[in-house]
Amino acid sequence: MKRIVTLVSGRGSNMQAIHAACVQQRWPAQVVAVVSNRPGAGALAYAEQHGLASAVVDHQAYASRDAFDDALAEVIDGFQPDLLVLAGFMRILGAPFVRRYEGRMLNIHPSLLPAFPGLHTHRRALEAGCKAVGATVHFVTPELDHGPIVLQSVVPVRPGDDEHRLAERVLTTEHGIYPLAVRWFVEGKLQVEGGLVRQTDGASQVLL
Ligand code: GRF
Repeated sequence: MKRIVTLVSGRGSNMQAIHAACVQQRWPAQVVAVVSNRPGAGALAYAEQHGLASAVVDHQAYASRDAFDDALAEVIDGFQPDLLVLAGFMRILGAPFVRRYEGRMLNIHPSLLPAFPGLHTHRRALEAGCKAVGATVHFVTPELDHGPIVLQSVVPVRPGDDEHRLAERVLTTEHGIYPLAVRWFVEGKLQVEGGLVRQTDGASQVLL
């Protein structure tokens, strides 16, 4: 059984989708903990309701980014994860932290990376006149919203779309691609070579 630890900051709808798929589809894995940097995160309530272990490492209690990262790593390592899943985790992690979990840490970002790393992705995509947007599941590297791409979803932009409507439609696709990418990882179906990710069954790595 692969042990999955999720890192969250907010409502945790992606974490919930992953947990539900893991249970319903009987993955060879379990979500062993939900770790939040925000004490009030909605994801923590979900964890409690579903009997999942949880922990809070409040970034505001630490004087430096390094001190926070160290405390976070200590808590995470206590759960002995095979995979770390960032699901709406809104803190930038330092390079030593990222290297510690290299090759076993995934993130989802609401854009078609490498376009629009960072915040306000949908607004920026609309301003740029993009005709399609989407989301990307990728392995985490020290550079923000960067790293080998596992799976992407593509969402057409419709006339009259604003950033909220786009965000909603993209989020729906996130709930499809993130569980699938995590499932591939725990089933050992992802190979990374030269910064590129291959799904070993030859499954499509784009959801259109
Ligand atoms: C998602 O849009 C995800 O792509 C981004 O943050 C949001 C998190 O939403 N990284 P949730 O907490 O999973 O509901």
